[in-house]
Amino acid sequence: MADPKSDLTWIGAQFAARLPRHTLPQGLYLDPRAFDFDITAIFGQSWLMAGFECELPKPGSYLSITVGKWPVLITRNRDGEIKAFHNSCRHRGSIICPSGHGTAARLMCPYHRWTYDLDGGLLAAGRMPADFSKADHGLKPVAVECIAGAVFFCFAETPPPIADFAAKFEKYAAPHDFRNAKLAASAKLVEYANWKLVMENARECYHCATGHPQLSKTFPVGMSKHFDAGEDGRLAAFASRMDGLGLAHTPVEGHWWQIARFALNEGCVSISPDGQHLSRKLMLDADAGDLGSMRWAIDPHIFGHAAADHAFMFSCMPVGPAETHVYSKWLVHKDAVEGVDYHLDELTRLWTDTNLQDKDLAENNQAGVYSPGYTPGPYSQDAEMLAQRFTDFYCDKAREYLAAYVD
Ligand code: FES
Ligand SMILES: [Fe+2]
Repeated sequence: MADPKSDLTWIGAQFAARLPRHTLPQGLYLDPRAFDFDITAIFGQSWLMAGFECELPKPGSYLSITVGKWPVLITRNRDGEIKAFHNSCRHRGSIICPSGHGTAARLMCPYHRWTYDLDGGLLAAGRMPADFSKADHGLKPVAVECIAGAVFFCFAETPPPIADFAAKFEKYAAPHDFRNAKLAASAKLVEYANWKLVMENARECYHCATGHPQLSKTFPVGMSKHFDAGEDGRLAAFASRMDGLGLAHTPVEGHWWQIARFALNEGCVSISPDGQHLSRKLMLDADAGDLGSMRWAIDPHIFGHAAADHAFMFSCMPVGPAETHVYSKWLVHKDAVEGVDYHLDELTRLWTDTNLQDKDLAENNQAGVYSPGYTPGPYSQDAEMLAQRFTDFYCDKAREYLAAYVD
């Protein structure tokens, strides 16, 4: 039988052994104890991004997500407010809404039909005694924040501060008008690799020139740390054009997030197979839509890109020590018409192909990390600063948890 205390002693030793500027000790990628710890200490204590308000278009819309084995339910109530709950019935714990999107006037557990309102209050519970208190058996709330049309939630009873991120995300993302967008497509990709290998891969473009020939056409794969313009004249001209349009672009960051707007490759106005817009109806209609990409990255599990015509979100969800689900979402303007303004196969092709290429890379990485010859390797201080930033965040967050919860 597992001994939680000795597990945490083992976990603490892994973090104590972490070499600065190197990948993680092997056990943190492979061991089930590390996986359980990651869900509790990292995903359980961080702000996570569920998606966008436009995925919950009307009262009764819901979005059901699983983080590790923790099910969470995001709903829009009758007043139009977004709420989040643990998706676990207060009777005997069943999942109330299956994963994915749906609509329900009331939330009814499929097991014994206990029924909740869209604010989580228990409305009906058949054959319970007269003194049973419905008020004491509402769904347990989860912290939720809506910022610039995006939806964030946090399982922690005391979530980390979010005000700084919220102010910056509002400033950079608001012009893209995510509230007036629609979810044009979504996809789930199963990757047989630890979630941290998936995220390290997602945070660096060291592999992009060879690993992603299509993405490399539009995406500046040699971009320096934090997507800053540096001394490049073309990028400086982009920056001053964005200033003229009143669009924030300077890279900004906090401990668990980064945001920037950056120029795409010369002649490119979107992250797409040919560098051109994928939707004719723009989300941000200015300067012929030549607005680069607004990138946001949230640790532990998100990156996103918003060009003038569409936005893309990547969400990495851990499932097991060697299994991760990658969720992709594509947004376009709510009035864009499929088959007229955009075509689904064209809209989704680049990131679908890129994600499949990354799946191969991450699974191959996982296969090699099993080797008894694996030892932590050094990150390139030129090309992998963001991968290193991610593992540094992971280690900081873990140590913070260990210091707070383990004596
Ligand atoms: S477990 Fe939900 S009604 Fe019984
Ligand atoms: Fe990649």
